[in-house]
Amino acid sequence: MQSELLESLFSLKGKIAIVTGAARGNGKAIAFGFSECGAIVYLVDILQDNLLDTIKEINNENARPVIADITNIANLRAIVGQVITQEKKIDILVNNAGISISEPSESYSEDAWDKTYEVNLKAAFRLSQLVSQHMIECREGAIINITSLGAELGFANNPAYAASKGGLKQLTKALAKDLAKYNIRVNNLCPGYIKTDMTIKSYNDPELYKERLERIMFNRWGEPEDLVGPAIFLASDASKYITGQDLFVDGGWLAKGV
Ligand SMILES: NC(=O)c1ccc[n+]([C@@H]2O[C@H](COP(=O)([O-])OP(=O)(O)OC[C@H]3O[C@@H](n4cnc5c(N)ncnc54)[C@H](O)[C@@H]3O)[C@@H](O)[C@H]2O)c1
Repeated sequence: MQSELLESLFSLKGKIAIVTGAARGNGKAIAFGFSECGAIVYLVDILQDNLLDTIKEINNENARPVIADITNIANLRAIVGQVITQEKKIDILVNNAGISISEPSESYSEDAWDKTYEVNLKAAFRLSQLVSQHMIECREGAIINITSLGAELGFANNPAYAASKGGLKQLTKALAKDLAKYNIRVNNLCPGYIKTDMTIKSYNDPELYKERLERIMFNRWGEPEDLVGPAIFLASDASKYITGQDLFVDGGWLAKGV
């Protein structure tokens, strides 16, 4: 009985998912979790070698690689076209791909600003738009946007990251309103400090490592695996009455306050 309830709430069996930025880090962990829960997962990334290694490592027949740069709209159309041709539907989209280019605000380059916006915000919107057209036909779907504490708090030396993640957070709220009538849920999953390639420089810098650590109630940096349960929750029927929300997976950073 208990396992039947668990299955009905959290199983992703028969679901079709797209996870962007899935070759490594947070996206890889989320894609692995989804595939273990029964979903067929299309892992999208620009890093061909990492992606192919990840598919081998996941070692699960549910994982499919798609090598693509998501800042190109033609690529986004091709990804969605490929999944629809092969699977006939898309149930779950995780807009996880992201970049962070750290430069002081005083001299932040236009190039860094544009690149950050293209990946972190514009691609997430365009892909959500393309995918939701198919979710609308099925009258069902879950979109999860991976935001950041930078969407809540201004971080130093990275205005484009904070602004793009703040935009993504609000995009979620807007899409939740527009898509609720089709039973499509749109939520934010907001990681705290997670040890990945994106944060490895501050992880390896003793001063920055300690500064971050002191803000975390659990007194440890996060691991990509910490995001798996919350992502499954937001993708599954367990959260079928939840939309337009932020789920913080930050070891208590935000709640700790000053
Ligand atoms: N690590 C953290 O502490 C942390 C905290 C908050 C939010 N996040 C967010 O989590 C997400 C994943 O980051 P991560 O920490 O795993 O970093 P990561 O750099 O390891 O992963 C990002 C992935 O996105 C891919 N990507 C980047 N540009 C792309 C493009 N144009 N087309 C296709 N793929 C592209 C990269 O190749 C990479 O595999 C990002 O959105 C990041 O902003 C991370």
